[in-house]
Parts: sequence; structure tokens; C-alpha cells
Amino acid sequence: MKINLDYSGRHVFVFGGTTGINFGVAQAFARQGAAATVASRSEDNVNAAVTLLEEQSAQVLGVCADVRNFDAVGQAFEHAVARFGPVDVLVSGAAGNFLCEASSMSSNGFRTVVDIDLVGTFHVLRQAHRHLRRPGGSVINITAPQASIPMRYQAHCGAAKAGVDQLTRILALEWGSEGLRINAISPGPIDGTEGVRRLMAPSAEARRAAVDAVPLKRLGTLDDIANLALFLGSPHAGYISGAVIPCDGGGALESVKPTLEAAGRAAASASHEQGTR
Ligand code: HXC
Ligand code: NAP
Repeated sequence: MKINLDYSGRHVFVFGGTTGINFGVAQAFARQGAAATVASRSEDNVNAAVTLLEEQSAQVLGVCADVRNFDAVGQAFEHAVARFGPVDVLVSGAAGNFLCEASSMSSNGFRTVVDIDLVGTFHVLRQAHRHLRRPGGSVINITAPQASIPMRYQAHCGAAKAGVDQLTRILALEWGSEGLRINAISPGPIDGTEGVRRLMAPSAEARRAAVDAVPLKRLGTLDDIANLALFLGSPHAGYISGAVIPCDGGGALESVKPTLEAAGRAAASASHEQGTR
């Protein structure tokens, strides 16, 4: 079978889709002919995204909604479905993040990130559920390597994204018989985005270190993530569900190694001590 990624006549909804990685995903689907809905908090971001998307697709809708507000998320879907019909592909990627040690993080700081990343993802998927195309609907959550690789200063994000990964698997179990597939993409450091600019590589030195930590020795691009999303949204990925797929140049392998090695050394030394007692 020839690969066909034509999304003409399909409705793709990207929550948190007005900037960065998620906007890159929305642009890619629009380029492939989809009707695209993007939603986020800021009216400025929504308007700017709609203007750029209109260069790629005649059918574009922007909606302002905060994923922390369950009712507002529901209204966003009502609005979009009234315009473009059932959602063929849902991308849920709204997130917030800052670097802070757990010992100085306020309760509200922790809760804010969990509310946006994890509770927000639940709100988006829960409200989208009845509007998803059956059979054939595809849900793509945007997670992060922190979900499985412990990283300092990321207690809030790591805990929230670990929840997103498990939500992905559990909803794949619960919704699979309805003909719905639920997967997640775990991006590595993606060049030019908020996550890299502000958090991971705010200086030239930090950027070099970030590149060096990736086996493929480069930062990712918006298209790297968008290409995977185009595949996951299509029938070519029709037997993939409940998967959390890294798109990171192998970065997770490199980062996890020292952690696992240290744990392995500790376990080996504990069992050696038991054996010699
Ligand atoms: C410590 C902080 C803080 C900081 C905020 N807080 N920034 N604490 N250090 N740098 C605390 C505040 O003091 C407050 O707690 C609480 O968090 C809520 O802050 P608000 O500013 O009121 O929240 P809000 O306006 O809702 O903004 C949410 C936000 C913000 C997460 C803080 O950064 C945001 O909107 N970000 C969206 C964009 C974003 O972060 N994109 C990057 C995604 S990258 P108190 O106790 O004072 O009330 C990603 C993965 C990247 O997710 C992977 C690479 C590392
Ligand atoms: P970004 O540009 O800040 O994208 C976040 C998007 O979510 C924005 O469109 C933002 O728009 C929206 N948003 C934030 N809070 C929201 C809320 N409460 N309700 C609704 N929308 C909200 O960040 P990014 O770096 O591209 O990250 C995008 C996704 O990739 C995130 O899920 C992130 O965790 C993940 N990720 C990124 C990297 C990376 O290298 N950048 C690596 C791993 C994972 P508004 O401000 O208008 O709301």
C-alpha cells in the first residue's frame, strides 16, 4: 500500500495548539488538507495562529479556553464540532513548566503544573470523547521524557507527565472497543520552542550540552514531531494504541543510562553484601 497522508475532509483539533510544538503539528495537518481547530488561553496567540494557519487551509477555527476549566473545554469542542463535524484527530498538548527544586516549590506552583498538564489532559480527552469519530478516531497526547526519567527541578512536570502516560494507556484500554486509538508522543529537545529556549538551553553553553546529550547530535525540529503525529493520526497507524513513543533522537537512552547504572550498582552491592553475611 502506498503511504497516503491526505487529511482532506478530516477535522483535527489541537488543544494548546497555538505556539511551539503543538502549533507545528497543527500546521502540518492543515498542510495535508485538514480542517484545523486550535485552542489555548491567550487571545493573541489564538489570533496569530489562525492567521498563519489560514495560509495552509481554508478551514481554520481558533478558540480561547483554559484546559483547567472543564466547562470551557466542553464549549470549545461544541463550537468546533458544530463547524467541522466530529473530531478525527485530537492532539492534547497544553502544558506549563518552570525550573524549581521541590524543597522551595509552593503548593500552588506544584498544583498549577499538575492542573494544566495532567488534569487538563483529562478534561480535554473527557470532553472530546463523545465528539470523536467512531471508528477511526485518533488521540495523541504530548508528554515529555520527565515522565519516566527523573530530572531535578521537574517534580511537578515529571509527576504530571507520568500521569499523562498512564492516562494514555488506561484510556486506550477503555476506549479501544469503540474504535478509538490513544497514543502519546514524547518529544526530545525541540529547537526554537519555549521548552528549549527558556528551560533547557537558555545559553549557548547549555545548548551545546543539550545537543551533546542526544545520540543523533542535534536538537529536534517541529517537523520531526509533526511527521510522527501525521502518521499516528492516519490509518497507517491503525494497530498502534496505548503507546508512548519517544521522538527524541535517542535522547531518552542517553539520559536514562547513568540513572539506571547507579541503581544497578547499588542493587549489585546490596546483593553482594547479603551473600557474604
Ligand atoms: C517557582 C513559580 C515559577 C518559578 C510560577 N511559579 N513560576 N514558582 N519558580 N519560575 C508559581 C507561582 O509563584 C505560583 O505559586 C504558581 O506557580 C502559579 O503561577 P502563576 O504565574 O499564577 O500561574 P499561571 O499564570 O497559571 O502560569 C502557569 C505557568 C506559566 C506554568 C507558571 O509558566 C505558563 O503559563 N506556562 C505556559 C507555557 C510553558 O510553560 N511552556 C513550556 C512547556 S515545556 P504561588 O504559591 O506564588 O501562588 C514542557 C516540557 C519541557 O512542558 C521539557 C524541557 C525541560
Ligand atoms: P509552548 O509553546 O509553551 O506550548 C504550550 C501551549 O499550550 C501554548 O500554545 C499555550 O498557549 C498552551 N497552554 C498553556 N497553558 C494552557 C492552559 N492552561 N490552557 C490551554 N492552553 C494552554 O511549549 P512547547 O515547548 O512547544 O511545548 C509543547 C508541548 O510539548 C508541551 O506539552 C510540552 O510539555 C511538550 N514538550 C516540549 C519539549 C520541548 O522541547 N519544547 C520537550 C518535551 C515535551 P497559551 O499561552 O495561549 O495558553
